[in-house]
Order: sequence, then C-alpha cells, then structure tokens
Amino acid sequence: MDRNADAPWSKFDPEVYVDNNYRTPLEADLQIVRSLRDFFGRCLEGVAPRSLRGVDVGAGANLYPALSMLPWCAKVLLLEYARPNVEYLERQASPKGFDAAWDAFWDVLKEGPAYRDVEPRSRVGEIVRVERANLFDLDGQRRWDIGTMFFVADSMSECPEEFQRGVACFMNALDEGAPFAVAFMKESIGYDVGEHRYPAYRVNKDRAAESLGPYSAELEIHDLDHVVRPGHEGMLLALGRRNSEVAVP
Ligand SMILES: C[S@@+](CC[C@H](N)C(=O)[O-])C[C@H]1O[C@@H](n2cnc3c(N)ncnc32)[C@H](O)[C@@H]1O
Repeated sequence: MDRNADAPWSKFDPEVYVDNNYRTPLEADLQIVRSLRDFFGRCLEGVAPRSLRGVDVGAGANLYPALSMLPWCAKVLLLEYARPNVEYLERQASPKGFDAAWDAFWDVLKEGPAYRDVEPRSRVGEIVRVERANLFDLDGQRRWDIGTMFFVADSMSECPEEFQRGVACFMNALDEGAPFAVAFMKESIGYDVGEHRYPAYRVNKDRAAESLGPYSAELEIHDLDHVVRPGHEGMLLALGRRNSEVAVP
C-alpha cells in the first residue's frame, strides 16, 4: 500500500497537471466554483471585506479555491508540500500576475456580489502567500478563519489512516465557526501526472460524511457525477462550518 511519503512529490509537474485538469475548464469544476461562490457568499454575508485569514491546504496547481476566498480575506496562505508546486504557486502570486488559465474560474466567481469589485490579479499579489508545509504537521497550533482543501486527503495516499489523519489535520487548522470547503475525487484508484503515478484512497459519499461529520456543523455533501478521466467515479464537494469538537489526528 502506497503511503504519502512513498509518492514522487518532488517530480510533480504543475504545468502537466494544469493541462490535464484546468487549462480547459471542466463543467464539474465550474459547477464546484459556482457552489463555492454561493456558499461563501451566503455564510459570510455581513462579514467585512478583507477581515479574515484564509488557508488552502495542498494547494498544488489550483488557484480557484484561493480565488473563492479572496473578497473576505486580509491574507490567504497556500500550504503545499511538493516543491515544483510551491514554485508554481509563487509565480501565480508574483507581481507578474496569475496565468490566464484561472480567468475562466474568476469569470464564474465575479457573478457573485461579493466578488464583483475585486480586481483579482492585484489582490492575489497583495494578500496571497505560499509556504512549503506538510499537512500532517498541522497540529492545531496555527488556525485560520476560513479554509479549503481540494483533492488532497484523498489524493496523497492509499492508506485509510492517512486519509482520516489528513482530514483531521485540516480540521485542526480551522477556528470554531470557520466556513470550509473540501473536495474529494470519488472512488479514485490513483492518477498520473506525466510519467509519474500518484496514490489515492477510495472515498464515497458515506466515507466523506463519516470523516468530516464529527468536526462539522451544517455539513452538505454534493455528489457530482462528472467523470474527468478513467479511474474514478465523480467528485464530492463538502461544504460546512467547523464545530467545536477537538480533531484527533
Ligand atoms: C491531486 S493534487 C491536488 C492539488 C490541488 N489542491 C487541486 O485542487 O488540484 C494533491 C496535492 O496534495 C499535495 N500533497 C501531497 N502530500 C501532501 C502533504 N503531506 N502535505 C501537503 N500537501 C500534500 C500534492 O503536492 C498535490 O499538490
């Protein structure tokens, strides 16, 4: 069984990953972005702009979770383990501005009233920071007001304990009441990025609910049927708020 530490993270190619997943926006991702926009817009109505600290864990080569938190955040931290992805994210947050690939996702977000007046490139350059970090080191010492974790706990190991630990570590990083969004590939058996194979743990809707439920209030799980490649059965998007339960990794 492939554990997290066994996978070739240092060889992860972010440009190939973006080509495979985001360069041509998939309907499933656009649907997810609409749900993020509406969920955060609803949860954070009345919250002052630029007042929260946000985190995206295992950000990899995906900027849309960070973009979805932009209006309400004074700072957004992108935590990522693979060095090539850290460098990719640093380029996205540099004064040059993020790649055009992410514009299609912003076009969906900006239909929400909170996003309308945000200029995303300058705001990302101003408030987004990148840090190399291991999800498993989130032990509750550092906490954020809003958080996202997309295709990480399910897409980094085959080991059930590591999936559960990944979810608990993410929940450990959120303050009570923090809105969060978590996405899993449904029933994934692993994935290729270029010539390298990466492990996955098979998550279905019940497993997602079991793992997130103990730490969540108002949990809703959207089961998206879209299959984007062979080797999985769709995507799951979980939206909720952190409750007061202590997460034990
Ligand atoms: C399938 S990719 C998902 C990337 C991105 N969040 C997305 O939505 O496309 C899995 C990500 O988890 C990261 N990762 C793997 N192990 C990790 C760990 N122990 N701590 C933090 N990130 C990790 C990988 O480097 C990769 O960026």
